[in-house]
Amino acid sequence: MSPLVLLFIILASLSSCFGYHIEEPLYQTNAYERYPMHNYWRFNNAKHERFGFMTRANRATPHSSISVDDFGAKADGRDDTEAFQKAWNEACSRGASLVVPENRIYLLKPITFSGPCQPNTAFMIYGTIKAWPVMSAYEPDRLHWIVFDSVSNFKVDGGGTFNGNGKIWWQNSCKTNTNLPCKDGPTAVTFNECNNLRVANLRFKDAQQMHVTFQRCFNVIVSNLVVKAPGNSPNTDGIHVSETHNIQISNSEIGTGDDCISIVSGSQNVRVTDITCGPGHGISIGSLGADNSEAEVSNVVVNRATLRGTSNGVRIKTWQGGHGYARNIKFLNIVMQNVTNPIIIDQYYCDQQVPCQEQVSGVQLSKVLYQNIRGTSASEVAIKFECSKSVPCREIYVEDVILEPEGGSGGTIATCENVRYVNRGKFFPQCSPSIK
Ligand SMILES: *[C@@H]1O[C@H](CO)[C@@H](O)[C@H](O)[C@H]1NC(C)=O
Repeated sequence: MSPLVLLFIILASLSSCFGYHIEEPLYQTNAYERYPMHNYWRFNNAKHERFGFMTRANRATPHSSISVDDFGAKADGRDDTEAFQKAWNEACSRGASLVVPENRIYLLKPITFSGPCQPNTAFMIYGTIKAWPVMSAYEPDRLHWIVFDSVSNFKVDGGGTFNGNGKIWWQNSCKTNTNLPCKDGPTAVTFNECNNLRVANLRFKDAQQMHVTFQRCFNVIVSNLVVKAPGNSPNTDGIHVSETHNIQISNSEIGTGDDCISIVSGSQNVRVTDITCGPGHGISIGSLGADNSEAEVSNVVVNRATLRGTSNGVRIKTWQGGHGYARNIKFLNIVMQNVTNPIIIDQYYCDQQVPCQEQVSGVQLSKVLYQNIRGTSASEVAIKFECSKSVPCREIYVEDVILEPEGGSGGTIATCENVRYVNRGKFFPQCSPSIK
């Protein structure tokens, strides 16, 4: 080969390498490597150190455990709340495992299991804990059934079930019966202000409203949950994350009447992996910015999820008004099966009876990556970037996204407003070329 030909080949390959950056200055090949997520991965790798207490707990001998039955719980269809409260107080003060025996169903009214507790306290649920079905028992608070408050170095495990017995709440929801006033119902299980928490191997069923909420928690590992409620049960989010830092949710199967997973303001370093979702409203960041509030969400990764027959796939939703941001968000390796809005950013979200007005402020969305997202859309609009006019979306990256019509007939389109995006690899359907 002559030196001239060689030089030509080198120049040609250089220009094809770098041409991309010149054409698309927004996008750099290593853009998402540069996202400040490295701490996040380190957190992930360091979990064995951080969660060292778990190892110690397993090593502790003799393993002290307390059964709720020893405190008078009967599982006979009457109220076992008092027995659970007494048993908890004992387990918490001794650092013991509180055992809910297998093959028994315990009925509980609203109850708070308060910490701080001695190290190694655990809640081992083998049987079923079922919610008291009379709505008045939840007044005046009305928002909670079971609360774990201020517990650290704590785990809930065992393979058993929390059953929210939610039918009566669904029937009395303003979404089921529009003549009724809109009032919130109880979240089945709330973890409030927890630290170093592990929640694993549990079933959540038929919550009154949300199934399980983590709020103001640090360092949480959630795995192997099965969350199930009918597709038409109102507001029954699966897992709700609020003001929580460092949480991993993995290997879980969620099908409810609202978001499978919802991540709201004050949350950062959220890693969601290996989730199946459906029925439901998909995996959501938001809603954010309601009532002109400030929102801050950053460093969220959703990796390996399958969504089946859901109304949304991966969604970011913000209300008009509000301020703050949601940024550094990655949606990776996601399969959509007959999803109505597989990829959606909705900055005109409005979930109230009165219509929402367009406002001059909004939550800023930036640095959102959609990578390797494939499958089918139940509706024509497979990709919807409906960003705020006042605060357009910036640095939206789309790479290897292919969304085809369910059943193979018709086509799919993308609608894109007020968005600056960059694409790489395959991207179908694309935003129409007139849109920036
Ligand atoms: C796809 O979803 C639509 C709307 O949700 C539904 O009507 C239809 O039956 C689904 N198709 C399949 C094959 O499941």
